[in-house]
Order: sequence, then C-alpha cells, then structure tokens
Amino acid sequence: MPLEKHEYLSNVWKDGLFAGKVVFCTGGNGSICSAQVRALVHLGADACIVGRNVEKTERVAKDIATARPGSRVLGIGAVDVRSVESLQQAIDTCVRELGGIDFLIAGAAGNFLAPLAQLSPNAFKSVIDIDVLGSYNVTKLALPHLVASAKKHNSKSSLPKHATAGPSGRIVYISATIHYTGLPLQTHVAVAKAGVDALSNNVAIEYGPLGVTSNVIAPGPIGGTEGMDRLAKQPEPGSYPGKGIPLDRWGQIKEIADATVYLFSDAANFVTAQTLVVDGGAWRTYGGG
Ligand code: HXC
Repeated sequence: MPLEKHEYLSNVWKDGLFAGKVVFCTGGNGSICSAQVRALVHLGADACIVGRNVEKTERVAKDIATARPGSRVLGIGAVDVRSVESLQQAIDTCVRELGGIDFLIAGAAGNFLAPLAQLSPNAFKSVIDIDVLGSYNVTKLALPHLVASAKKHNSKSSLPKHATAGPSGRIVYISATIHYTGLPLQTHVAVAKAGVDALSNNVAIEYGPLGVTSNVIAPGPIGGTEGMDRLAKQPEPGSYPGKGIPLDRWGQIKEIADATVYLFSDAANFVTAQTLVVDGGAWRTYGGG
C-alpha cells in the first residue's frame, strides 16, 4: 500500500521543487533515508538508493517511485559503503542512467547496544567503518558530480558568482545527538557520529568555494525507525514534562524529510557547515538518544 503524501512530507512545499534533480542516497532502504528520498521524489527528483540487502533495496526503490508517476528510482543492492568498488559501480550506474548527481544523502549507519567492556575491537571498527569511512567513501566518489552540478547551476544563475550554490551540489549527512553528551552502550556510535560531523564541516569548508554545501541532520528520538525500535521504548505522552523532551513526544520520520527538503531547497542557499538538530529539544535536557 503506497504511503500517502502526508505520511512523509508536510504540505508546505511546492510541487516540482526538485524537478530535474538527482539524489544519490546510501542507507536508502532504511526508514529515515527512504522517507527523505521519497519526499524529494514527490517534489520532482529522480533517485538512486543503495543498500546491502538486494531484495529490500529494490523493493524500497519501487515503493518510493510510487510517490510520483513518471519518476525514476534506482535501487541498487549489494552495495556496502565500506567497499569503494561497489559504491563506484553504483555511482557510475546512477550517473549513466539518471544523468548526474545533484544531491547526496549519506545515511548508511551501523548500530547495536553494547557496553564498552563487551565491545571487541572489530565491533567498534565495524561501526566506525560503516559510518565514518562509508560517509567518506561516498562523499569522495560523489563530489566530482556534485561540483559539476553546482557549476552548471551557477552558470545559469542570475545571481553574482558564488552568491548561491542553488539547489544543486548539496550534501546531507545523517548523524545523531548522542555524542554531544554521551550515552551508555553507544560509545562506538557516538565516536562514529562525531566523525561524520567533522567530515561534513571539512567538506563544507573545502568545497564551499566550488559551490557545494554540506550539512548534517541530527535526528533525536524518531518513532518508527529501526534504530529507536531497537534502542528504546516509546514513552506515554505526558511522561516527559520537566524531565525530558521539551516538545513532549518523539519525532516523526516525516520531520526529518522536511528538514532535508529545506536543506536542499533554495531557502538554504547560504547554509553550510551546519548541523540541523531535529529532536524536539531533547539533547539539551537529557542527552537525546
Ligand atoms: C556486541 C556486536 C554486536 C552486539 C555485532 N557485534 N553485534 N558486538 N554487541 N550487539 C560485533 C560482532 O561480534 C563482530 O565483532 C563485529 O561487531 C562485526 O559484526 P558483523 O556482524 O560481522 O558485522 P557486519 O555484518 O558488518 O554488521 C555491522 C553491524 C550490524 C553494525 C555490526 O549491527 C549492522 O549492520 N546493523 C544494521 C545497521 C543498523 O543498525 N542500522 C540502523 C542504524 S540506526 P567480532 O569481534 O566478533 O568479530 C542509527 C541511529 C543512531 O544509527 C542514533 C542512536 C541513538
């Protein structure tokens, strides 16, 4: 059953906002990233999502395509962000089939709960490799296409040179808030997400002059996600006041999609090297999660 628009996107964005754009997304078969891509596709983009599981990635891509008749959504499985070779093949396919890459979402992540004492070096390394090395790998491979996209857009823009990157040549990384304070059983993830944040900031600084923007979305507790399903139990409404999330609820996946649309839209032309925390104020009161 295809999702209704209101389930993955607010009703404030203009149809066709991203017409002619192409988004490449790692972790695209997951709950948050698939909603981000679905929102962009609804608003006119074509997309390529990649994931490790072939059947799931292809199924999710087909489902995302229902967001807009005529959209082109590639689902490429057997892609591990730790493998440059598999990523390169997927990037090449995306560029060949869809014509380029205007937006990158680096969302692939690994997670499990484990006390530090039970975290083997390989367990720690696995999450660092998926989150940090994987984000670096896809960034490096996508950047030539993002730079070309930004250049093409700027050459058509009537604005002064470098006044805007326009809605092209943009990166959004998916991070978290747990490393702002620390969270038991999540040392490996906190260290990895700190690395992702640093990667985004450095890409923003090095590639800003070429018209590429790079930002981080840091979701707080978002209901209906694999991460939160595994990590925590959703509390009853009203159980937070005074001791927890200021907005007194978990977030919705579509609130991450909305943040993504904002960062990829012309409304965020002068926004780069930033982290957009979407957590209802949670981390400021209890650390987030
Ligand atoms: C301790 C564990 C473990 C656990 C795996 N390992 N699970 N150690 N507790 N629960 C150890 C293994 O024993 C092994 O170490 C090492 O980790 C690698 O395990 P593999 O299974 O071989 O690795 P791999 O197949 O690459 O799997 C990667 C994974 C896995 C991260 C370990 O959990 C995974 O891919 N999960 C799916 C992705 C995911 O969780 N996505 C949701 C992200 S949500 P040894 O020493 O035995 O070799 C998210 C939200 C963040 O990121 C916000 C948080 C609040």
